[in-house]
Amino acid sequence: MQSFTLLAAALFASAGFASPTPAKRAVNAINCPIVFDGRVPVGTAATFFDTSNALFNADYVKGANLKWSQILQLPNVSSSRFDGSGYEAIEVTLSDASIFNNQNGFRRAGLQFASDSSTGPGASGVKTLHWSVKQDATRPLNLTHEYLNVWHETADYSADQFMFEAGTIIGSSGSDKASWKILNRSNQILWSTPIDNTQWQNFAVTLDYNKNTIQVYYSAGTAALTAATTAISADISGNGQFQIGMLKKPTGTSDVVNSGYQESNLNEGQIYGGLFVEDSADGCVST
Ligand SMILES: *[C@@H]1O[C@H](CO)[C@@H](O)[C@H](O)[C@H]1NC(C)=O
Ligand SMILES: *[C@@H]1O[C@H](CO)[C@@H](O)[C@H](O)[C@H]1NC(C)=O
Ligand SMILES: *[C@@H]1O[C@H](CO)[C@@H](O)[C@H](O)[C@H]1NC(C)=O
Repeated sequence: MQSFTLLAAALFASAGFASPTPAKRAVNAINCPIVFDGRVPVGTAATFFDTSNALFNADYVKGANLKWSQILQLPNVSSSRFDGSGYEAIEVTLSDASIFNNQNGFRRAGLQFASDSSTGPGASGVKTLHWSVKQDATRPLNLTHEYLNVWHETADYSADQFMFEAGTIIGSSGSDKASWKILNRSNQILWSTPIDNTQWQNFAVTLDYNKNTIQVYYSAGTAALTAATTAISADISGNGQFQIGMLKKPTGTSDVVNSGYQESNLNEGQIYGGLFVEDSADGCVST
């Protein structure tokens, strides 16, 4: 998108406009108050995330000996629906060093919004989390494994109020491993859609902490989101925080946190865009 802006500026300059205004895309507007903003401005360097910053927590959740600049890539892909011309994609990767807190069974790296906290506004009222995903053909996931990609975890870390997953759900033989799945707190699949290996896929989940419901929204490519489910009753109590990235479970163990099999020389990535949480108290959901 950077080149688009430069081109637009060049065109304005050559046409002799005195004060060129940057072209803005009218679509993709975020219509509701933003609560947490994880959209990455065009031109951001990976090292930006190594120290305290306005977007994501610099300390969590990652391998003990890794810097975010070793984990995050800024892939040269078109920007996603809600990123428009001002923001760009970011990719979370896994390597053999992606071991957090001696959890030797998992390989994980997860972004937390900088201003999210275990008792913060992300877990009260009515909030909608938005995220878009794109696949990196050079860093494919191994769908024999179960991946948590986006979720909200309770403040006491005892449960996740919802999970957005890929791959083979351990203990759920009926699920299609090549689909994105949204699960509730008791691991029931609420909705799923095939993983698209070419274009962006855009998701949103509205969490109504007053009515205890979850509603899923979805679109592919640049299309507007539409409701994919109704507001489904769910136990979303327990406060906590959002996490966006990859948590890859091992195979062949009943103790997924600490043991099991992970192949070596991992080089997997998940591209994200359009990360933000908006206030849906008045029913507002950006589509
Ligand atoms: C990014 O991708 C575009 C379109 O494929 C290409 O024209 C451009 O040269 C690429 N930029 C970089 C820095 O690789
Ligand atoms: C995918 O995971 C399975 C189970 O751990 C493993 O047997 C297989 O070798 C992996 N495939 C690749 C391409 O790494
Ligand atoms: C998850 O969904 C199932 C199936 O609809 C439902 O029976 C269960 O109560 C839900 N669990 C929670 C914790 O909301």
